[in-house]
Amino acid sequence: MKVVIVFESTHHGNTKKLLDAIAAKYDVELIDASKVDAVDYENYDIIGFASGVVFGKFYKKVTSLAKSVPSGKKVFFIYSCGKNNKDYSENIRKTLEDKGCISLGTYGCIGFDTYGPMKLIGGINKGHPDEEEIAGAVCFYASFL
Ligand SMILES: Cc1cc2nc3c(=O)[nH]c(=O)nc-3n(C[C@H](O)[C@H](O)[C@H](O)COP(=O)(O)O)c2cc1C
Repeated sequence: MKVVIVFESTHHGNTKKLLDAIAAKYDVELIDASKVDAVDYENYDIIGFASGVVFGKFYKKVTSLAKSVPSGKKVFFIYSCGKNNKDYSENIRKTLEDKGCISLGTYGCIGFDTYGPMKLIGGINKGHPDEEEIAGAVCFYASFL
């Protein structure tokens, strides 16, 4: 089973920490959305989208690359955010479900955040994602293999 995760993690590399732990244990390809113009999804059985959360959504490049996923593919979502009080994958998941993709689920946790006024107080969520949150992402990934 071939799996790819298309990601962007530009704020502090928080989301990438989750993905690196997954890639250390499982055979998965990671594609940095900020470095490519397109992804050929045909060869993959499962496609993940992972992102820091900006203004309530996944990074624009990740969302934009998700639009070309062929109908019927299995998809999943991973994110890190400043405040984990809602499902930030809702928007991108709906886009893909509307295209006929099958969602395997979402994993989200908090990540170090120095955006805007948070910077003045040295940021919030220092040390996150922590070991437990990283292990949670690996567990989530393992749940649908
Ligand atoms: C421009 C910007 C906007 C953000 N907007 C949100 C937001 O709407 N909700 C939230 O919970 N966190 C928000 N954050 C915090 C990030 O989602 C959080 O720090 C995340 O872990 C960054 O992931 P990354 O290091 O993988 O990019 C924002 C951060 C930045 C830089």
